Amino acid sequence: MARFWVCVAGAVFFLACLALHSRFCDSSALRKFPFQISSRKEKMLYRLDLGWPKYSEYFTGTTFCVAVDSLHGLVYVAQRGDNIPKVLVFTEDGYFLRAWNYTVDTPHGMFASSTSHEQSVWITDVGSGSYGHTVKKYNSFGDLVQVLGTPGKKGSGLNPLQFDNPAELYVEDTKDIYIVDGDGGLNNRLIKLSQDFMILWLHGESGTGPAKFNIPHSVTLDSLGRVWVADRGNKRLQVFDKDTGEWLGTWNNCFIEEGPSSVRFTPNGQYLIVAQLNLSRLSVMAAPPAGSIGDCSVIHTIQLPDQVLPHLLEIDRKTGAIYVAEIGAKQIQKYVPLKSHVPAFGAEWLFS
Ligand SMILES: *[C@@H]1O[C@H](CO)[C@@H](O)[C@H](O)[C@H]1NC(C)=O
Ligand SMILES: *[C@@H]1O[C@H](CO)[C@@H](O)[C@H](O)[C@H]1NC(C)=O
Repeated sequence: MARFWVCVAGAVFFLACLALHSRFCDSSALRKFPFQISSRKEKMLYRLDLGWPKYSEYFTGTTFCVAVDSLHGLVYVAQRGDNIPKVLVFTEDGYFLRAWNYTVDTPHGMFASSTSHEQSVWITDVGSGSYGHTVKKYNSFGDLVQVLGTPGKKGSGLNPLQFDNPAELYVEDTKDIYIVDGDGGLNNRLIKLSQDFMILWLHGESGTGPAKFNIPHSVTLDSLGRVWVADRGNKRLQVFDKDTGEWLGTWNNCFIEEGPSSVRFTPNGQYLIVAQLNLSRLSVMAAPPAGSIGDCSVIHTIQLPDQVLPHLLEIDRKTGAIYVAEIGAKQIQKYVPLKSHVPAFGAEWLFS
């Protein structure tokens, strides 16, 4: 019986290879095979951009995170491995620009924060070497411009600020910074810093109750002044007021099987895109209006092939393109929204 299903799966893959471009089929299926196609037959809202990047040969390590500078059309990718460039910079069209690895040990999360006169990217570093346990800001060429935390020293201190496995950060246009610390280390904290790195508020307790965390893995803001945290180990999203830090609620009904590893909003603010790592799944969820966040409702799920392992993702604020860092498939995949449907976003979700 098992053998029968293996044959069926093989045949399906073979037929899919015939139907799709041969590029999918020339090497590992994991790396090249796109989304499983949804059963719905309506119009597509996103398509996999097969031309991004132009050459996937630049992915020589395990791709943990991706950041998008929509102002300057840049995409940053960070990967782990020995003797490889840790950060790769591409254009949003997929052309490779440059790479660096100076002062980057073990990247986990990243966020591009730019103004018209500054191109920069923040990286959380979970390494145990001399650059680890830090949250660092680089310019677009890899020059280190700011270090938060005590390099090479894990800790829970607040003065000076110390981290252990800082997972991700989000930087507002006001330059206020939200950091989740961390990815299974000493700390389970959400910290808000001002632009001059003073602590504005924080939630710092491990646990399962409201405003407590177990592996806070990803953080983002919505357009209504709410902070969303993927509290992965507790299998929930927790929501806070960005000004006061007040706890506003929790979504757990969508995460029975596995907690969220990444959370982001679409540019129109109507949807969340959430990744679940081991399930190799992306979900589209309806963003709640102002007021009570209610329960979460999944509008669509995108099942990636087993072992793709989507870790963190980023959405281009200008174009709405979704970039997914896949640690299993060791690549970044880009999904482009089909623009004319933006108002109806979510009415139908056929990916191809
Ligand atoms: C940095 O990257 C270069 C390739 O760009 C590689 O040759 C070198 O070994 C890397 N260094 C480290 C410490 O990984
Ligand atoms: C995913 O699976 C690995 C290996 O079984 C496990 O160590 C890890 O905790 C899992 N991660 C999540 C988010 O469930």
